Amino acid sequence: MAKILLLNGPNLNLLGEREPAIYGSETLEQIVARAREYAQSLGIELRHVQSNHEGALIDALHEARGWADGVILNAGAYTHTSVALRDAISAVGLPTIEVHLSNIYAREPFRHTSLIAPVCVGSISGFGADSYLLAVQAMAWILQRKQV
Ligand code: DQA
Repeated sequence: MAKILLLNGPNLNLLGEREPAIYGSETLEQIVARAREYAQSLGIELRHVQSNHEGALIDALHEARGWADGVILNAGAYTHTSVALRDAISAVGLPTIEVHLSNIYAREPFRHTSLIAPVCVGSISGFGADSYLLAVQAMAWILQRKQV
């Protein structure tokens, strides 16, 4: 069975309470449960890690080298700032999909730059919690093509 790491970065543990007009009212737990169920229906095991710490996110990526076939990453604000996270994605070499609940291009100019986008297969942004499901579907196609 193919396996993927769903990695969520800073402040995403507060989903449900955090700026619901932007991020919706579903909790991270609910979103992950939906993504896991959808992945399972496509024959994929999904493991989830959330951290507010840049180094812990990098450690999770490094560990994924040992077991995962792909990564779905919402790096939160580190998307716009972290060269270290970008380097980790490159170094690990697993197909990685960038995800955002909000449409980062419709928001403040500082969110228009993603340092991780160039090292990801693609980006999904602006579909609320459904962005994660779209990413699971895209990852299923990527892994199918690689015949994982
Ligand atoms: C986010 C967008 C980022 O700009 C922001 O810092 C987040 C969440 C999103 O999912 O829309 O924390 O990644």
